[in-house]
Amino acid sequence: MAKQQFQTVRGMYDITPDRWPWFNFVMSTFEHAAVSAGFGRVETPSLEDEGLFSRSIGEGTDVIDKEMYTLTDRGDKKLVLRPEGTAGIARAYLEHGMGSLPQPVKMYYIESMFRYDRPQEGRYREHRQVGLEVIGDASPSADAQVITLVNRVYRRLRLPNVTLQINSIGDAACRPKYRKALVDYLTTNEKQLAEVDRARLAKNPLRVLDSKEASTQVILSDVPQTLNYLCDACQQHFAGVLEYLDDLGIAYELNPLLVRGLDYYTRTVFEFYGEREGAQASLGGGGRYDGLLEQIGGQPTSAVGFAGGIERVILELEAAGVALPDGQPKRVYVASLGEPARLAAFRLIESLLDGDVPAVGAVDRDGIGAQLARADKLGVPLAIIIGQKEVREETVLLRDMTNGAQETLSLSDVVAELRSRFNIV
Ligand code: HAM
Repeated sequence: MAKQQFQTVRGMYDITPDRWPWFNFVMSTFEHAAVSAGFGRVETPSLEDEGLFSRSIGEGTDVIDKEMYTLTDRGDKKLVLRPEGTAGIARAYLEHGMGSLPQPVKMYYIESMFRYDRPQEGRYREHRQVGLEVIGDASPSADAQVITLVNRVYRRLRLPNVTLQINSIGDAACRPKYRKALVDYLTTNEKQLAEVDRARLAKNPLRVLDSKEASTQVILSDVPQTLNYLCDACQQHFAGVLEYLDDLGIAYELNPLLVRGLDYYTRTVFEFYGEREGAQASLGGGGRYDGLLEQIGGQPTSAVGFAGGIERVILELEAAGVALPDGQPKRVYVASLGEPARLAAFRLIESLLDGDVPAVGAVDRDGIGAQLARADKLGVPLAIIIGQKEVREETVLLRDMTNGAQETLSLSDVVAELRSRFNIV
């Protein structure tokens, strides 16, 4: 046999049918919670202008500097496979004049994102996110609603021990003062900074706070904290968000070093963590981005959102031994014996499917024993057997696969009988 020539691209993977129920579990749980809370689905193209991301996510972030899949199309246009969803959705909000709709506009998405990162468990070059964006709402309740919705999703997925970390990183009014204090502190301690962080200090100092470098970590223990530099408006906003969370008894940890890896954030930032260790422990995160829409050419518009990695949630669910809810529909297996039964079986499968009864079968191969063994493997509760005698008498044999009991049914009654047995209304 020829050697297989093609494999998935490094860092990308297939979702095979046996894995799909996990993805479906996470996506449908999320979608249900989002739709119930008044979010409408949005989907943007996978390709966007390069400038959209560099302008919004920011030069000096890992995503922009190292991780974008950039390509030039045949018209010499520079395009990027989206590394995240927020910038494209902000663009769509402006492009479709959603500012004239009743505000806020609440959108959710389930999309693939592309980041040229170092692949490992929980980190892929194409990963899938579920996300929420609330655009046109400046109030702390919007931040809190996004957080509580995500919290509800993780609870419904039965994810154990999810923790929430939260911080406020101020806005255009107070961030410059904080930035100066940060730069002063890091410059004083520059010798202890890891090489990459010295470069970050020059280019985008806030990113040093994300550093995973051991030597940098040491000086981060005394670094100035954003919360001490917030202006009154930012302080009030943050207190407002926490009040809603406290009122609902949603546990959180204040993490003064949390800044998140994208530059568009203002005020609230938050991140959910699972039990798994390391840099891939972040299940999802988000925050407010009141400056982003203006940065990409719109009117000043407040917004807040979240995105979470689907693969990481699945890894966490599997590690915790959470069982998938049984999502398999009950199906009947149609087996046939001999030539005249072949057409009758094919016709019956079609009638069952027309009648909305899930049905499978392999009508023109294998003996009856092999067919029943296959039905067994598929875990179907019922099988229908059609042989020559049944064709002649216009009947079928209905076999209970759990105990082997068989009964004869009239062919004309089969669809109605199965609809009733499967509680199809
Ligand atoms: P992010 O933190 O860059 O935020 O990504 C959100 C989540 O996507 C992460 O917490 C993680 O679970 C997952 N993720 C990120 N990169 C990878 C990867 N390479 N492999 C697997 N999973 C990954 C955003 O993207 C923002 N757009 C979130 C947001 C929405 N902020 C406001 N609105």
